Amino acid sequence: MTNPTRILMCAPDYYEVDYVINPWMEGNVHKSSQATAIEQWQALHQIIKEYATVDLVPPAQGWPDMVFTANAGLVLGQKAILSRFYHPERQGEEPYFKQWFAENGFQVYELPQDLPFEGAGDALFDRDSGALWAGYGFRSELDSHAYIAQWLDVEVLSLRLIDPRFYHLDTCFCPLSGGYLLYYPPAFDTYSNALIERRIPAEKRIIVPEPDAVNFACNAVNVDDVIIMNKISPELETAIATKGFQVRQTSLTEFLKAGGAAKCLTLKTTEPIQETAQANAPVDSRIIHLEGHLLDAGILNQALDLINEQGGSAKVLNFNLGIERKNTSSANVRVSAPSPTTMEDIMSALIEMGAISASAEDVQDAHLETVKQMGVAPDDFYVTNIYPTEVRIKGQWIQVMHQRMDGAIAISEINGTIHARCRLLRDLQVGEKVVVGIDGIRTNHKTTARPSAEKQEFSFMGAGVSSERRVELVVEQIAWELHKIRAQGGKVAVTAGPVVIHTGGAQHLASLIRQGYVHTLLGGNAIAVHDIEQSMMGTSLGVDMNKGVPVRGGHRHHLKVINTIRRCGSIANAVAQGLITKGVMYECVQNNVPFCLAGSIRDDGPLPDTEMDLIRAQEEYARLLEGTNMVLMLSTMLHSIGVGNMTPAGVKMVCVDINPAVVTKLSDRGSVESVGVVTDVGLFLSLLMRQLDRLNQKAAMTV
Ligand code: ARG
Repeated sequence: MTNPTRILMCAPDYYEVDYVINPWMEGNVHKSSQATAIEQWQALHQIIKEYATVDLVPPAQGWPDMVFTANAGLVLGQKAILSRFYHPERQGEEPYFKQWFAENGFQVYELPQDLPFEGAGDALFDRDSGALWAGYGFRSELDSHAYIAQWLDVEVLSLRLIDPRFYHLDTCFCPLSGGYLLYYPPAFDTYSNALIERRIPAEKRIIVPEPDAVNFACNAVNVDDVIIMNKISPELETAIATKGFQVRQTSLTEFLKAGGAAKCLTLKTTEPIQETAQANAPVDSRIIHLEGHLLDAGILNQALDLINEQGGSAKVLNFNLGIERKNTSSANVRVSAPSPTTMEDIMSALIEMGAISASAEDVQDAHLETVKQMGVAPDDFYVTNIYPTEVRIKGQWIQVMHQRMDGAIAISEINGTIHARCRLLRDLQVGEKVVVGIDGIRTNHKTTARPSAEKQEFSFMGAGVSSERRVELVVEQIAWELHKIRAQGGKVAVTAGPVVIHTGGAQHLASLIRQGYVHTLLGGNAIAVHDIEQSMMGTSLGVDMNKGVPVRGGHRHHLKVINTIRRCGSIANAVAQGLITKGVMYECVQNNVPFCLAGSIRDDGPLPDTEMDLIRAQEEYARLLEGTNMVLMLSTMLHSIGVGNMTPAGVKMVCVDINPAVVTKLSDRGSVESVGVVTDVGLFLSLLMRQLDRLNQKAAMTV
């Protein structure tokens, strides 16, 4: 009686490692032994014949990888989806496999020419649920999954492969009868691992350790309770046996050199259709349009990386390179994602990069939902970023006002005019309309453009983080910029932490304020307390600022200072009464430079000026920041991040801190407008003042 399970194989008559299309083939070209390969293939053939009927497709000369019949196509019932090989080296196998399927009564489905999918090498049925586990990332493209789901009417579970050694799903993943799974988790991204864990209970997952994985232990042929595979470690054999399987090992070293083993050499052609397997919602896919200095500014690369990182896949449909360097380029990219939520994450990130929907039909009005609870947005609300944003309402694009990060977009209609503005969650009122989803939203990303000639002055900003070595140069340019802003009546905001005082920067910051370079000061209780302590007592947190040593009883100085100012009622009153005669806060008061001190849990006192209601403090910060051209962030991570969140793109930011991590974090606004300087802030300020003095002298001489 013939065994009902049928497996397709192809004799290794023309097998060779002839080219390199996966990491295993590297260094192995023409290194496999023909004689040994034949022996090993026959041994495997013999074993398989004990459990299944083997069909043979005639080998074709010139197509050495044709032995790997797993890549012929994907079979379910009488349907066969023919493979579309990714590499030209294997594309010539397609007609032979197509012929075999057709001649053996299969209905052959063919994917679009440019949509790679490598058959059962990348698609494996769950032996329990009947769902299809499908891999993508190296040889098969995610978009192919939508076709498969439709043609075979099965639920497709997409898994993203991330390790080039495990380029086909069957090299690292093997569903077994009874719903068991043999697999190597590190070959998959986090999202895919979570999906696997959600679908397959822990006691049914057999994890293959790396040494066995690289010997293709996952590349196994399973028929009922028998598993046929290359040689594995005794530990793994025991682990598999404990689950009730019988392992048959046979050496396949010659095929490993081409990146394949037992499973690759076979294709099960009797796949029963399961009643329970239902097609899932097809893979989500959209076309986006990108425009700008896509290559020079690295936008295209960033976009593609982002899509992959978030678990989607991308295909550049057309790319128009700007003819001259000053011209912009444009590209249309098809984005696919395994689920609507992933698509939404990807799309919001892409919108933030300036991407817009490509085809006119695709452009929809933004979706709106009504706020039902005060201070709470609808679940799916669109989260704003720092870039100028427009939303499409009733067919027209409306500019969003008060652009800032981490807000919602509220839409209102006043006297027939539609208004869109960024609103913080806490400010939302019941009945307000808020933008949800990702349709009908676009951002303008001019700031990531290559700086134009007249903007070149600030081009160092593109350099990202500077270290000591470049500080002098950077300071020179910042001085130049400050000078220009002052001359043009612009506005500079400073955020400062107490380190400015401890490092001896107070006198320099004070001169900066006195000379009209600073238009608002933002910080916490500490900067003011330490500055006033230094003005009044010559110490900063009890340390003598001239001698650098702690003063007896000095640890109480700052409390005494706080107490004095509290008695006066405010810093301004203390200045008026002649108690404070110099320093940062003194200059603010004398020069009418508004400041806001935002309180925190650790504040001593606090000073009467410190705003302990944080919502009020945030509002005050936002008000003081309006119209700012540049922010100097001096050694305060907290206040600087706060400011960064409230500031729209286009505002220049200079972040100075001795800690490179802080600098990187703050200057990472993905644009040329922010720069980080890793240095001692006191030193920075003294260098800056020196440069400004020079510029002032020069200006005086030319008058
Ligand atoms: N050299 C072949 C390739 O890189 C090996 C194919 C292995 N097949 C498999 N199903 N994993 O395409």
